[in-house]
Amino acid sequence: MNELSYKSRLKPTRTALLFWCLFIGIGAVVGSLCMFIKPDGSLLQMQNMLPYFKKLPLADILYQNYIFPGVALLIINGLTNLTAAVLLFRKKPLGIRLGMCFGVTLMLWICIQFYMFPFNFLSTAYFIFGMIQFFTGYAALVFEKQETFHFDPAEYPNVGTNPRLLVVYFSKMGYTKKLAYEAANKTGATIYEIRATEHTSGTTGFWWCGRYGMHRWPMPIEPIHVALQGYDHVTICTPVWVFSLASPMREFCRQARGKIRQADYILCHHMKCRFQNVAKEMDVLLDIQHTDMKSVCCRKGRYL
Ligand SMILES: Cc1cc2nc3c(=O)[nH]c(=O)nc-3n(C[C@H](O)[C@H](O)[C@H](O)COP(=O)(O)O)c2cc1C
Repeated sequence: MNELSYKSRLKPTRTALLFWCLFIGIGAVVGSLCMFIKPDGSLLQMQNMLPYFKKLPLADILYQNYIFPGVALLIINGLTNLTAAVLLFRKKPLGIRLGMCFGVTLMLWICIQFYMFPFNFLSTAYFIFGMIQFFTGYAALVFEKQETFHFDPAEYPNVGTNPRLLVVYFSKMGYTKKLAYEAANKTGATIYEIRATEHTSGTTGFWWCGRYGMHRWPMPIEPIHVALQGYDHVTICTPVWVFSLASPMREFCRQARGKIRQADYILCHHMKCRFQNVAKEMDVLLDIQHTDMKSVCCRKGRYL
C-alpha cells in the first residue's frame, strides 16, 4: 500500500458499481420471471412488440413467445450482474472486472434493441446505464490499482550513500516517488522531496492540480532546504500534468535556476508519449542542457 494517506476513492466507487450491478441484475431477473409467468409478454405489456423480433435470425423458432428472450435476459444481464454484485459485496477483485464488463454487455444488448425497436426512451436510458456502469467499473479498477500500489523505502538501502549526487522529486500519488527511489538506490544519491503548500491530495486535490496544470502556473512549494550547489549531478523526477511540467516542479526549477550544475530528468506519466516539451521547459527554467532523459509510462500503478 502506498504510504501516502488519502481518503479512499475505491470504496465509494465500488459501492456505486455494486448499485449498478444490483439494479441491472435484479431488474433483469424480475423481467425474465414476468416473461416466464406470462410468455405472451402481457405482464410486461409487451404483447405488441413480439413482431419486432422477426428481424432477428431464427425468429420462427425462438421468438414465438417470450420464453427464449426471458432465458437470454436472465443469463446475459441477470445472473451475470448478480454474480458480480456478490463478488463486489465480498470485496473480491474479480467483482470490479466483471461489473465493468457487464456494463459493456448491457450496451451490446441494447444495441440489438436499437436495431429491432423504433427509437424509445427505455432502451436509450438503459444504454446510458450500461455506459455509466462501465465507466464506474473502470474508475474502480484504476483506484484499486492506485490504492494497492506498493512502496517501501526499506527496499532501497543504497539511498543516501553518495553525498555528491542528489535525486529531487515531486510526487502526488507515489509513482514518481518510487522511480526517484529506484534511481537513488542505483547511484547512492541523496533524496529530496519537493512538497507543495497547496492542496494536492484526493479527488479535490486532483482538480486543484489540474487548474494549475492547465494554466501552466507554478505551484507554491515549501522552502528548499537542500544546498543544490553542493552536488555534482542532480536527477530531477517529475510527473506530467496536463501535457506539461507538474506545477510544483515548475516552481522548484524557477527557484533552482543557476544552482544546479548538471542534471538528468525522469518523467512519469500515464500516456505513451515521451514529453520532450517537459524536458525543454526544465532546461529553460534551470538554464542548463540536460544530460539524459527517461520517460516512464506508469499506467494504473504499473510501469510500462
Ligand atoms: C492534474 C494532473 C494532470 C495530469 N495530466 C496528465 C497528462 O496530461 N498526461 C499524462 O500522461 N498524465 C497526466 N497525469 C497523470 C500523472 O502524470 C501520472 O499519474 C503520474 O504517474 C503521477 O505521478 P505521481 O504518482 O508521482 O504523482 C496527470 C495527473 C494529474 C494529477
